[in-house]
Amino acid sequence: MRALNIRVQGTGKPVVFLHGFLESSTMWEYLEFPEHLIQCIYIDIPGHGSSSTLLDETPSITSFARTICNDLFSRGIHTFDLVGHSMGGYVALEIARIVNFRPKVLLLNSNFWEDTIEKKQNRDRVISIIKKNKNLFIQEAIPGLFIRPNKHKSDIEVLITEAKNISEEGITYASLAMRNRPDLSHFAKSISANLVCIQGEKDGIVSEQEMQNKTANQIPYITIPNAGHMSHIEASKVVEKTITDLLLDKL
Ligand code: MLT
Repeated sequence: MRALNIRVQGTGKPVVFLHGFLESSTMWEYLEFPEHLIQCIYIDIPGHGSSSTLLDETPSITSFARTICNDLFSRGIHTFDLVGHSMGGYVALEIARIVNFRPKVLLLNSNFWEDTIEKKQNRDRVISIIKKNKNLFIQEAIPGLFIRPNKHKSDIEVLITEAKNISEEGITYASLAMRNRPDLSHFAKSISANLVCIQGEKDGIVSEQEMQNKTANQIPYITIPNAGHMSHIEASKVVEKTITDLLLDKL
């Protein structure tokens, strides 16, 4: 396994794409971007896809962000915009917080606030279930991310197969990192001119009402109709156009 698996495609302005929990950079294959305008830098977050798991004792989104930035900087990629799906959005926002330039950040089915107490308890429950039966957890969790799982049976099969290859350590690290992440609402509001939330209308992880309350007319958000948490699959063409237009300042 490579320390950090990065795939660079295209010659346009650099944009880093970060996938969600239990996913990998293959999630972006559902979307096509004009590569003469956007240089797509697809990254497997540590512990996912072909990237090694981090070993620090206190798992954090900051460690994911630092590892990714160090790797990008060492390759001579010093400025870039960011698109993050769900957990990848948490990492994207953290990268924006720690770098010394001001990237555009698109949070796809993601958010900028910390877990509620119930959600933190649920992370702990996930970690103990993973220890007992990782595959069963994955099989049950992934279909629930779609609003119409029956319409996406073959996509779900592929996602489940890929997620089963993630180690118990990788899943545990990511769960703890998400549980430990701080509230970035203040930071998100401070960069609201460069931040957009793109939300599935029926996302089971963050409801539209919650997004509306938290963005409070201060952070722009766009709703993708007829989509749940997996909007890049459920409404791929709309998501592709929304991301492209936002990155190219057409929206
Ligand atoms: C994800 O899809 O990355 C996760 O469901 C996000 C989360 O659990 O907060």
